[in-house]
Amino acid sequence: MSSFQYKKGALHAESVPLGAIAEAVGTPSYVYSQAALTGHFQVLDEAFGEHPHLICYSVKANSTLAVLGLFAGMGSGFDIVSGGELARVRQARGDMGKTVFAGVGKTQEEMARALAAGILLFNVESAEELEALDAVGRQAGRRAPFGLRVNPDVDARTHRYISTGLKTSKFGVPFEEAVALYARARKMKGVRALGVDCHIGSQLTRTAPVKAALSKVAGLYAELKAQGHPLEYLDIGGGLGITYADETPPSPQEYARTVLEVVKGTGARLILEPGRSLVGNAGVLLTRVLYRKQTPAKTFVVVDAGMNDLIRPALYEAHHTLLPVVKRRGKAVEVDVVGPVCESTDVLARARPLVLPPQGALFAVMSAGAYGMSMASTYNSRLRPAEVLVDGPAWRVVREREREEDLWRREQA
Ligand code: LLP
Repeated sequence: MSSFQYKKGALHAESVPLGAIAEAVGTPSYVYSQAALTGHFQVLDEAFGEHPHLICYSVKANSTLAVLGLFAGMGSGFDIVSGGELARVRQARGDMGKTVFAGVGKTQEEMARALAAGILLFNVESAEELEALDAVGRQAGRRAPFGLRVNPDVDARTHRYISTGLKTSKFGVPFEEAVALYARARKMKGVRALGVDCHIGSQLTRTAPVKAALSKVAGLYAELKAQGHPLEYLDIGGGLGITYADETPPSPQEYARTVLEVVKGTGARLILEPGRSLVGNAGVLLTRVLYRKQTPAKTFVVVDAGMNDLIRPALYEAHHTLLPVVKRRGKAVEVDVVGPVCESTDVLARARPLVLPPQGALFAVMSAGAYGMSMASTYNSRLRPAEVLVDGPAWRVVREREREEDLWRREQA
């Protein structure tokens, strides 16, 4: 059940009316449900049952300290892609020994920091990166644990901007080159192979591509084991989709069944890197109507949240449902809901049937917990939103709204 429900016509996060939060904190603001965050984690964890597995929450989806802290408290590990994310995980008291580091462009400085911090493993994405990691390991007098991220050349059947497992993608090493690279790594003194990794894309709504990719990767894992590589982990990446509109992604149980069917035989411990499926539907973006505007061609509703606050519609033409915080009766008209940013793509919802809201009305932009705040910017010198965490009848601000002086901090006139 969603943690965002109407009670007597007013939309609530758990037991708190969203209108009350908007009054107290202002808009635009992100609001997260603790029950949803922890619930999604538990359900996924339980779906993998007794099979040895480690959930490494993908920090990029929502890197807010309070969110990281919640997952850390539940025993989660973390999937990071930068020194900044490493620092955030540390700040949130995340377990470094359960942290994996991906990304095609890790610097040696980032690698050295992560190695010193004692991360579980590096997911290496190229031969040159492997050499760099070897150098970092030798310099530290240690062997850096790694897995190769292999590119299984599978079409994830998702938006092309978030598909990563095709041959033409910059991610991972070509599947055919993996065996030779592991063999090369064996001769290096600064690395030791600990796993195999893949991630084919995000917002996956079908199991077939997952199955196809993992079959290849599980085969590779078995082959490498047979060659004597001391592998322990098979990292299957993230990508499980969520419902934004009418998508029907596999349930966590169905996802787990698909994965386990393919990898059970390998004896590998699994690493999962879910992002969106844990946080996406655990958060909304609250926004207020500024103006309505009728042109000969269209009806516009101008709200106070822009593409700097939530870039997904502008960047991926992503659909986010808009719910009125107070239900209104009336005939729906087709409107474009737009933000204040001076760009034509600053459209939150296009041609959306809505009961025309009065000025000052509040909307909740649904499914905004993933890739919302973590992708927010200050473009147009707009202040990034506040963030609120709701827990039953209680709520607290977990990030204050940015202030003007934050905009030019570290600048010299
Ligand atoms: N692991 C790796 C290596 C990844 O690259 C990603 C996401 C994840 C895990 C987590 O994937 P998830 O479970 O969240 O699908 N900004 C885009 C999504 C970009 C995904 C990038 N990589 C969006 O808003 O749709």
